[in-house]
Amino acid sequence: MQPLMQSTPTPAPIPDISTLGQVFTPEPVVRCMLRLRQNAGRALEPSCGDGAFLTHLHNAVGIELDARQSPPGALNMDFFAYPESEKFDSVIGNPPYVRYQDISPATRALLRQDGFDGRSNLYLFFIEKCVRHLAPGGELIFITPRDFLKSTSARQLNRWLHERGTITHAIELGDARVFAGALPNCLIWRYELGNLSHNTAWARIGQGDDLAASLESPPWQYRHFSECAGHLLFCHGEYSLSLADVASVRVGAVSGLDAIYASETAGNRDFVTSSTARSGQTRRMIWCDAGAPAGGAAPPPRHPDRPAYPCLRREQLVAVGPRIPANRCAAGLRQHQDPSAKPLLPARLPPLRRRGDGRLPP
Ligand SMILES: C[S@@+](CC[C@H](N)C(=O)[O-])C[C@H]1O[C@@H](n2cnc3c(N)ncnc32)[C@H](O)[C@@H]1O
Repeated sequence: MQPLMQSTPTPAPIPDISTLGQVFTPEPVVRCMLRLRQNAGRALEPSCGDGAFLTHLHNAVGIELDARQSPPGALNMDFFAYPESEKFDSVIGNPPYVRYQDISPATRALLRQDGFDGRSNLYLFFIEKCVRHLAPGGELIFITPRDFLKSTSARQLNRWLHERGTITHAIELGDARVFAGALPNCLIWRYELGNLSHNTAWARIGQGDDLAASLESPPWQYRHFSECAGHLLFCHGEYSLSLADVASVRVGAVSGLDAIYASETAGNRDFVTSSTARSGQTRRMIWCDAGAPAGGAAPPPRHPDRPAYPCLRREQLVAVGPRIPANRCAAGLRQHQDPSAKPLLPARLPPLRRRGDGRLPP
């Protein structure tokens, strides 16, 4: 007998991009990432959506928060509630890209807060937790935006990754559009826990390249995996010289009281300010070197409109900050040691002294 009405297929659920990061991985990218897999053991896809990678992996664990997407056999739960004691030889996938302020309160309550801040995107938390799920020698194979390599909110994570392993493979997708209408500048990468060779096979695929062919056979080059100030780099070589070996590198000064420390006439050193790039002008400030012994060098000439006020010292600017007396008299400034800054300071600073001729050390 003919059914009275033809059954219509259930429409695919509308993806939630902003709060769940539901951007699904195209098959050529999935295949490229599966080819990077080197370990044969237990595997995890931590945000499996409808199972892009899971369908290719035998007996892998898949986790998906959204019941509408979760494929049969996957755990329908929040990945951040999954016990860290579960270890895997391979973790693979495409973690959700969600701005911190858009992460649901329920997920946010489960996130580790140390090392991250209110600018940290959800995919950074996925990277960190996935590495914690790796067995010794385990591999993490992800496609993510490449911005974590240089992002301030990932500095602690990046140092931690570099200390514990190597990004053994990195494919920069630059302006190649792998996801329809979304997210340029992606990186496909494989990280191996415990591999401290810091040798990386690196490739770049651009908009002009045949994407499918390049993903099939990336144009690999050798790179050295380096970390500098929390930024991750794929360098042409291992450099024994740092920038500080060939140039004078200083922390910028923030006085908080330019009326006292900035002076065209009494200042002894030029500082770059927020407007220098635009105007080309630096600001003349009064400065003495951190930790310099009192009276070691001739003080800058005293200027009639400035009493004997202290020089600017880097420790105070960075970690301590001068206390301004109620009468705002510069001569009355006293060193103030903030308890929260104590661990940053080896010892109490010597009393403030006016010192220094403004020349860079030889
Ligand atoms: C970028 S999609 C990737 C889906 C699939 N792995 C793929 O590559 O096509 C990210 C998936 O993570 C899921 N997700 C978001 N937050 C999650 C969480 N806290 N725990 C588990 N899954 C989550 C989303 O629902 C979405 O399906």
